[in-house]
Amino acid sequence: MTAAAATTQKRAPAGLSNKARELMEEINQDAGKHNVWVRTQANAPAQRPWFSETGGEGSGQLASGRVAANQMKTLPHLWRWSEFSPYLHRISEIARKAEISPIEFADRQSILLLNPGLNGRLQVTNTIRCAISIYNPGDVAPVHLHSPNASRTILSDQGGYTVVEGERCDAARGDLILTPNGTWHDHGNDSNEPVIWIDMLDWPLMEFLDAAWVDHDMPGAQGNARVQPTTHRDGYSRRLYGKGGIMPTFVSHQIGVGRSPAPLIHYRGADVHETLHGLRKEKGDPYEGIKVDFVNPVTGEPVFKTLNYSAQLLRPGEETELKRETAGTFHVVIEGSGATEVGGKRFEWTQNDIFVVPNFLWRRHINTGKNDAVIYSVSDAALMRNIGQYYAQGRAKNGKVTELVH
Ligand SMILES: [Fe+2]
Repeated sequence: MTAAAATTQKRAPAGLSNKARELMEEINQDAGKHNVWVRTQANAPAQRPWFSETGGEGSGQLASGRVAANQMKTLPHLWRWSEFSPYLHRISEIARKAEISPIEFADRQSILLLNPGLNGRLQVTNTIRCAISIYNPGDVAPVHLHSPNASRTILSDQGGYTVVEGERCDAARGDLILTPNGTWHDHGNDSNEPVIWIDMLDWPLMEFLDAAWVDHDMPGAQGNARVQPTTHRDGYSRRLYGKGGIMPTFVSHQIGVGRSPAPLIHYRGADVHETLHGLRKEKGDPYEGIKVDFVNPVTGEPVFKTLNYSAQLLRPGEETELKRETAGTFHVVIEGSGATEVGGKRFEWTQNDIFVVPNFLWRRHINTGKNDAVIYSVSDAALMRNIGQYYAQGRAKNGKVTELVH
C-alpha cells in the first residue's frame, strides 16, 4: 500500500471528522448512566513537564474540562501565629468554663489548618493534616491508636505529656514526639498552664487510600479518662537510642504495626537546638543552610515510611538558592524571622508561624533577622522516594539548573 493510499484509508468519510467529537459527546449522554465516559479530550495533568522548564515561578496549572474534574492543587500559604493563636485561646476559655469538655464531643480542643487550594479539605498538603491543639490544666485525651502516622511538635515552653506504648514523654518546646501507625497513645496536661502543640499526620494519604481508622478500645485502659498504664518513665526510648550509633541488643526495635518506624519516639528540642547551633560554622547546604534530619536510629531512614522530619538553621543574612521537589513540605518557625519565596510569592515569617511549600514549586529561604533562624519541616519526600517519584532540582543565581537526585 502506498503512503497516499494509507492516508486515504485513515481519513474519515467527508463531514464526519469535524463532527466526531460532537457525536461522541452524544454517546456520553447515555454512557454517563452506566458510569462510563467516552474520551473526548486529551489528558490534562495539573503538572507540566517541569524539569524542562527553568523559569523561577511555579509551574503547573489546574487543567479544565472533563479530564480535570475535581482536580486540586496545593497552594503556597502562610498561617501567622498572631492570627491563628487567638482561636486557640478562645476555645481554651470556652473549654475551661464548659460543663462538657470539647474533648468529649470533638476529640480535641484544636484548630485545623486548611490549604486554600484544597477546597476546604482538612489538609495542608497532598498528604499532611495539621491540627494545633491546646490542653488546659487537667485535660486528658483518652488512649487510642490509628492507622495514620502522627507526631506532635511542641510550641509551649513546657507542660503536657504524651504516653506512647507505655512510655511517658514530658513535652518541652521544640520536642518532636512520634506516634507511629498502630501505637497506643494518650495525651494530657498535668501542669498549671495551658499547653499548645502541633499535630501532624499522614491522614489525607490514608484517607485517599481509604485506609484511615481509629481504635479507642484499648484492653486494660484505666479510669474514667481511659488512659494506658505508664510502664516506662520519661526518657525511656532516649536512653535506649539517644546516643547516635549505639543500640541496645535486648529489645525489639519494632513499635506499632508499621514497617519499622523509628523506635525513638521522643526527640528533644534542646538536643536539636544544641546540634544545629553546634554546626552553624559549617558550610552547610546551598539550598537548605545547616540542616539535620530526624531519623530512625536503627536504620538511618526517615522516621516514617511516608513522612520525614527535619530541622534547619539559617544564619543571619543567609539566603538559600532556589530548589524544588516533587514532595510537598510543611514548615514551622521555631526561632528567628525571615522570608521564604515560593513560586515567585514572598512570605515573611516569624516565630511559631507555619507555612507550606507545595510540591513542584521553586522556593528559597532568607534569614532577614539579626539572630539564627530555626525552621522545622515535615515532608512527604519519604513517601515519594519509596515509590520512586522523588526528584529535586536546584537553580543557581545565573539560572543554571542542577539535578539534585540521580
Ligand atoms: Fe492520635
